[in-house]
Amino acid sequence: MTQPFSFRLLATDGRARRGEIVTPHGVVRTPAFMPVGTLGTVKAMFMDDVKATGADVVLGNTYHLMLRPGAERVAALGGLHKFSTWDKTILTDSGGFQVMSLAQLRKMDERGVTFQSHIDGSRHELTPERSIEIQGLLGSDIQMQLDECVRLPAEPKEVERGMQLSLRWAERSRRQFEAMGGPEKGQGLYGIVQGGDVPSLREVSARELSAMPFEGYSVGGLAVGEPQAVMLKMIDVVDPILPRDKPRYLMGVGTPDDIIESVARGIDQFDCVMPTRAGRHGLAYTRFGKLNFKNARHMDDPRPIDPTSDCPAARDYSRAYIHHLVRTGEALGAMLLTWVNVAYYQSLMQGIRDAIEAGRFEEFKAETKAAWARGEN
Ligand code: GUN
Repeated sequence: MTQPFSFRLLATDGRARRGEIVTPHGVVRTPAFMPVGTLGTVKAMFMDDVKATGADVVLGNTYHLMLRPGAERVAALGGLHKFSTWDKTILTDSGGFQVMSLAQLRKMDERGVTFQSHIDGSRHELTPERSIEIQGLLGSDIQMQLDECVRLPAEPKEVERGMQLSLRWAERSRRQFEAMGGPEKGQGLYGIVQGGDVPSLREVSARELSAMPFEGYSVGGLAVGEPQAVMLKMIDVVDPILPRDKPRYLMGVGTPDDIIESVARGIDQFDCVMPTRAGRHGLAYTRFGKLNFKNARHMDDPRPIDPTSDCPAARDYSRAYIHHLVRTGEALGAMLLTWVNVAYYQSLMQGIRDAIEAGRFEEFKAETKAAWARGEN
């Protein structure tokens, strides 16, 4: 048997936690930001560059990979690590959330969800069992249960129905994960807390899931358009209920500010398309806030984005050149800005981890937020 999946807390500072997850593909330093690699690629980046930014884990998507190139094909080619050349940890989402946002003619019932592919209209079914089977075929180190994320605003009755369905799917997902030998392979399965913006439903979801033997706990159904204060309140509700000795992952979050505020409330893992998507749209995240390279003010600026950065894209290329690439729609513009953004997110996480270890997380948070607010001058 390989080493079992594990998590240990190395330090805490207030409610902020510094820890380490061990998976079959290495150590994940937490708090961790996981760049999104939906189709087995962090869009517009080489895996070696992703690694050099300090990322310990990337995220893949069951929904996209089951449609193209197909989970059985990836398995026959040696699994997603080999297929993509990413040899560190891979976390996969279960597909339900993406089905609801992308697929056509969806039908959800107790058994699972059937849908038509957004690519060619072909019909597919995703059940809790099939989702875990696919994640196993991909060779995912950290797998997610199939869940239903009810779109907000919604009636509490509807939120409750989705939350209760997700709890039943959590049990079925766990059974399948164990049947497939996930624990023996050192892989982990996370349950997903739902309950929308209703504190009492969040409590029930967190309590019921905590009684099931998951390696970690995700908080889903947030960052779907609600104000940040509502999201933080829901984290406050589940933080004291979730087991302290297991990692907590806030799904689909977020801005640098969302991340720092959620770390302050006990969250250990994050993923978001924001740094990669923004990079393809001409936006840079930096330690002094956001820069829009479509803006003509960069046209004559010979300075790099950030001369103090370890990232070559932030350090070695002029703002004028990056503006020119963005203006002309060159692929390199998207590549450089994606690299800048993924590197910034990772340097933020490193700063957070160092600050928690040093017992100065609150000061770090205040300084970081002040620098964003101040801008460059
Ligand atoms: N990604 C962002 N939010 C969610 C969620 O609620 N569930 C799942 N499975 N993935 C997500």
